[in-house]
Amino acid sequence: MQAVTLELATAKEAPLLANLIELYVHDVSDVFTQVELGADGRFGYAKLPLYFSEPERRFAFVMRREGRVAGFVLATRGLPAATEPDVYDVAEFFVLKRYRGARVGEAAAFELWRRLPGKWTVRVAERNTGALAFWSRSVMRFTHGAAREQTLPGEPHAWRVFSFESPA
Ligand SMILES: CC(C)(COP(=O)(O)OP(=O)(O)OC[C@H]1O[C@@H](n2cnc3c(N)ncnc32)[C@H](O)[C@@H]1OP(=O)(O)O)[C@@H](O)C(=O)NCCC(=O)NCCS
Repeated sequence: MQAVTLELATAKEAPLLANLIELYVHDVSDVFTQVELGADGRFGYAKLPLYFSEPERRFAFVMRREGRVAGFVLATRGLPAATEPDVYDVAEFFVLKRYRGARVGEAAAFELWRRLPGKWTVRVAERNTGALAFWSRSVMRFTHGAAREQTLPGEPHAWRVFSFESPA
């Protein structure tokens, strides 16, 4: 498989990310049914500008395969569900449909954890069954089975939380 790359996005890539976020939110809107489409036909993502104004704790990456845009990742540090201040968290993660099932997502996740070594959590809605299978396999492969896995109650859905450390 050709290399999958993650490129740290700057404000210049904000329109690209905003477009990808629209595809992503629509894709997961059958799982996160509380998400409402705006009157302008866009879901929007109010926190996106913070990824450029708070570079010490928010990280936006454009995912590419063979140089072509294949998805995106948003990650945070110390926010919002972290029980410890410096824990990284995968906020949003998306692979375009045409690139799915070819370990593009897994390669991107591995690259993310290598780029940002430290303590990580990955939270996934239990009813997002495809994503749950994806994270379970990817996290367990990355950590060689050493990640801690918990189920946490939540409204409107329970969460599966994987906790692990990415070595420096
Ligand atoms: C979830 C998602 C990121 C997976 O990306 P992907 O590139 O297709 O995943 P990969 O090909 O790297 O899969 C890695 C492993 O997870 C498994 N997997 C991935 N998607 C799966 C699915 N929908 N159902 C079951 N298993 C799945 C693969 O089979 C593979 O394991 P294997 O190699 O042992 O067979 C992608 O489907 C997506 O963007 N979905 C919509 C957005 C979303 O739900 N994001 C997650 C939010 S928490």
